[in-house]
Amino acid sequence: LDGLPVKETDVIVIGGGIAGMFAAMGASETERVLMITKKSLFDSNTRYAQGGIAAVISEEDSPEFHRQDTLLAGAGLCDPAAVDVLVHEGPEGVKALIRYGTIFDEEDGHFALTKEGAHSQRRILHANGDATGFEIVRALAQKVQTNDRIELWDEHFALDLLTEDGTCYGVLVQRPDGSRVAVRGKAVILCTGGTGQLYRYTTNPEVATGDGIAMAYRAGAVIRDMEFNQFHPTSLCYPGAPRFLISEAVRGEGAYLRNIRGERFMDKYHPLLELAPRDVVARAILSEMEETQSTYVYIDITHESPELIRHRFPTIYEFCLNYGLDMTTDWIPVAPAAHYMMGGVRADLNGETSLKRLFACGEVSSTGVHGANRLASNSLSEAIVFGRRIVDRIRELSPLQGKFSAECKGGRQAAPMGAVVERRLKLQKTMVRYVGLRRNRQGLLKGMDELKRQLPLYQSALTKREELEFANLLTCALLMTEAALNREESRGAHYREDFPERNDREWQKHTIMEREKAIG
Ligand code: SIN
Repeated sequence: LDGLPVKETDVIVIGGGIAGMFAAMGASETERVLMITKKSLFDSNTRYAQGGIAAVISEEDSPEFHRQDTLLAGAGLCDPAAVDVLVHEGPEGVKALIRYGTIFDEEDGHFALTKEGAHSQRRILHANGDATGFEIVRALAQKVQTNDRIELWDEHFALDLLTEDGTCYGVLVQRPDGSRVAVRGKAVILCTGGTGQLYRYTTNPEVATGDGIAMAYRAGAVIRDMEFNQFHPTSLCYPGAPRFLISEAVRGEGAYLRNIRGERFMDKYHPLLELAPRDVVARAILSEMEETQSTYVYIDITHESPELIRHRFPTIYEFCLNYGLDMTTDWIPVAPAAHYMMGGVRADLNGETSLKRLFACGEVSSTGVHGANRLASNSLSEAIVFGRRIVDRIRELSPLQGKFSAECKGGRQAAPMGAVVERRLKLQKTMVRYVGLRRNRQGLLKGMDELKRQLPLYQSALTKREELEFANLLTCALLMTEAALNREESRGAHYREDFPERNDREWQKHTIMEREKAIG
């Protein structure tokens, strides 16, 4: 790091989705904040969130019901204390979002609440029908951009965390012109989102490349439960169209799933039918696709009134219409797609990771809220609930003392990577084929072999964003494959054909991974 310019601040926030903006706003009340995004505040998974945000609002609901639903979906791997935090502090978090200007839909003077898979109650707030994430981003971005205590660096790439003796002091950042700067602060909050781009078929935008998980791993932080990747059952599957999310709320409002013969099939798989937990619905769809030799099934909401469909799902309706599909009259072809990473950087109830002064918030974190399978719409809630706690904890931290002699733990090779677009595609195909919705030992070993042929892992001399992202994706792919090989049972989103049963006696435990330490 010798000779690099150094930028001083109090709190460094990496990532610009709901977790990043919410934490930045909270921290800015008492600290100077530097916020770094690799593109802009409008490029994140949050922006595309449709269904909504789960919180106990209705009088018929209670934190206990929300707790039970979350634990059940999590398939024995949730941390009950983290779930308690989520279900009790969710409503306060929602109030804070409203104070920051988010406008949620109302009906007859109350918040309009919808239902999604595995929720026993209507508890999902939404905005502009099915554009909840966009509304949250709109409101928060406006606040962040006009807050003079938040300095915003868009189009900057966070390369590596700077650490010394198990403490994180800052981050090495690449500016848009390729030059580098070391940023130092008393706390770093990773809010970098998930890993959807590990798969060829994903609901996630291009930026979801697991940068925070890879960076934290290189810095020596504990990474947890990487085998639990959630596939959303229903993404649009139509020639020429991206894998656009068809919200679970569509099924929450009564839509049916049908195979290409037109038959409803969920009664063969689960008593909750179309509203069974996501992993069950996704695998059921895959089975139907195989049985009918098709690449899709249909979602059918044509029995609901056209007014309701257009009012509740204006974004989905318009999107499908652009491809000549009219939800009010047509069945929409859908298939599962990678959607959400349940694992990530292990964080405690205050969002602290195993490295001092390093925090993780939102999808990048593994707080224990989601267990082996996230309950729909709990992700936005997790980000705000733990974001508030992180801000409180950071206020207690003493200022950073001492010399900035931190070491950057990335590799040192300078070999050009070459053909990075093809390499990303190859990696995505490997992950779909061997580390997807159904896994087995033989396939996972093949997958691991293909991934290892893509090494070396990380080269600090890389400068192109695509190369840096690929290196991070490869780290996450290897972690996920190794974790999936290790877990010889089926639980939540992790399904092993060779171990199809859940095995609580041996496997009701987290997968812990640390750099240069064996899995355990
Ligand atoms: C959806 O609208 O189906 C996505 C909600 C979520 O992933 O929580």
